[in-house]
Amino acid sequence: MIIAIDGPAGAGKSTLARRIAEHFGVAHLDTGSLYRAVALRALALGAAADPAVATPAARALDLSLLEDPRLRDDEVTAAASLVAAIPEVRDALLGFQRGFAHRPGGAVLDGRDIGTVVCPDADAKLFLTATPEARALRRSRELQGGSGGSIYGRVLADMKARDARDSVRQAAPLVAAADAIVIDTSTLDADAAFAAALAAIAGRLAVTKR
Ligand code: CDP
Repeated sequence: MIIAIDGPAGAGKSTLARRIAEHFGVAHLDTGSLYRAVALRALALGAAADPAVATPAARALDLSLLEDPRLRDDEVTAAASLVAAIPEVRDALLGFQRGFAHRPGGAVLDGRDIGTVVCPDADAKLFLTATPEARALRRSRELQGGSGGSIYGRVLADMKARDARDSVRQAAPLVAAADAIVIDTSTLDADAAFAAALAAIAGRLAVTKR
């Protein structure tokens, strides 16, 4: 069983994907971490936006980088969306993602293009969305704890810039698959989003079994 979870930054994909994977007892891959790892390597080599640097970094991806604490740094976050717009980088990461998805027992993958490109054959596809304000509030709380007040404005601006770049790029833009179930998490906490997602998946699996 393959479950695809896509959506913009801060919509709650990774938290939800982890819980869904745990619920079904299958593996989980946060595909954004692959683009972050490529960005980290390319930044170390001095040029994240240069295909001549980022493409070899993606082809020789060092999976130990997925554990690197610098992966969530602002600089790496911004660079990840630059390397993610390079078609050769996306191609280089496709095989690993598909291999992960098709492992025996199944998997949950979250990202931007799982339902559209990586796993168009997924058994259930969810597209999580929320207002930019709700997503920025969530992300700034995550980064800062408490209210997230003082960094909210910067997080909102960074997020809008990244969403725009992810949505307009030619290669695998951020878009809901035609057969994805859209869940707006603006007013849902993690438990409510989990309940909505489980109901949506159950509905989809019941239809495909018929
Ligand atoms: O956690 P957050 O949503 O902030 O970001 P992420 O999922 O770690 O993804 C970082 C960046 O990688 C995104 O801004 C996208 O540009 C890119 N990405 C992508 O293009 N395709 C994916 N399947 C996953 C991430």
